Amino acid sequence: MTDALISRRSILQSAGVVAAATVLPSRASAEIEPQFPRKKRALRIAHMTDIHVQPERSAALGWERCLEHAQGQRDKPDIIFTGGDLIMDALVADEARVKAQWDIFNRVLKRNIEVPVEHCLGNHDVWGWGARSTFRSASRFGKVFALDALELEKPYRSFDRAGWHFIVLDSTAPLSGNGYTAKLDSVQFEWLQDDLAKVGTKTPVFVLSHIPILSACAFYHGDNEKSGQWRVPGAWMHLDSRRIKDLFNRYPNVKVCVSGHIHLVDRVNYCGVTYTCRGAVSAGWWGGDFQETKCGYSLIDLYNDGTFFTRYVTYGWKPCESV
Ligand SMILES: [Fe+2]
Repeated sequence: MTDALISRRSILQSAGVVAAATVLPSRASAEIEPQFPRKKRALRIAHMTDIHVQPERSAALGWERCLEHAQGQRDKPDIIFTGGDLIMDALVADEARVKAQWDIFNRVLKRNIEVPVEHCLGNHDVWGWGARSTFRSASRFGKVFALDALELEKPYRSFDRAGWHFIVLDSTAPLSGNGYTAKLDSVQFEWLQDDLAKVGTKTPVFVLSHIPILSACAFYHGDNEKSGQWRVPGAWMHLDSRRIKDLFNRYPNVKVCVSGHIHLVDRVNYCGVTYTCRGAVSAGWWGGDFQETKCGYSLIDLYNDGTFFTRYVTYGWKPCESV
């Protein structure tokens, strides 16, 4: 069946919800070969998510190896996008521990970066939301610490580059108690509506978020089905997925939504948009593979006609607990 014969409103292609990562480690990176080798490439992105930098487990060295590997490609990326969970955890860590993690992240990045970088925040980058009563009065409580560390004004934004429009979302919303859920608050959703309205329906749009807007691999997180039900909580996939999808239905130029968070690789085609979750730089938080997915990053090629190609790249990191 050609793309032209597939309804734009087709539901999750039951067989076509392609979880690229399935059984064997080698299959985690097995994605569809490009169908458009002669098109003009506009941009090559290295997408690095769920880095979970920490003083332990040689994470600094692993982060460095990842940057070296991506930028050492014969066909180099033009830009690096980080995808959130840049540090191991700030949700329940004290200020000194959070600072130590950001210091490692930035020291390695600044020493090794050769191309521009754009950052996206993850849930683990938010300080104190797992222990609000302890940390809420601190000046850098919440997202302030991460924004300061990354020299960002806001956790969400958009920009244009190489003929594409890029939208970076902030997935992490507070709960009334401790913890978080995945959704855009009303201010951010209105900003997204306005931003898309300004872009119109022609320029191809790339959306970057930490938590998936729509995901297949979220079903494989933990021992999900052991309870006797499939269960995907709001912390795993955007609770406002339906509202965002409805908005995207008005913009055929929204092409691809790239996320992390689950540490697995998938690809869901829904209503003409590709939602793809990418594996983690740290895989199992620097302790080895996470299910079938190894430590890796993604190369994402964007073309001038609005098409794109993704490839998950492992960089050969093995867990090293002793350093
Ligand atoms: Fe993560």
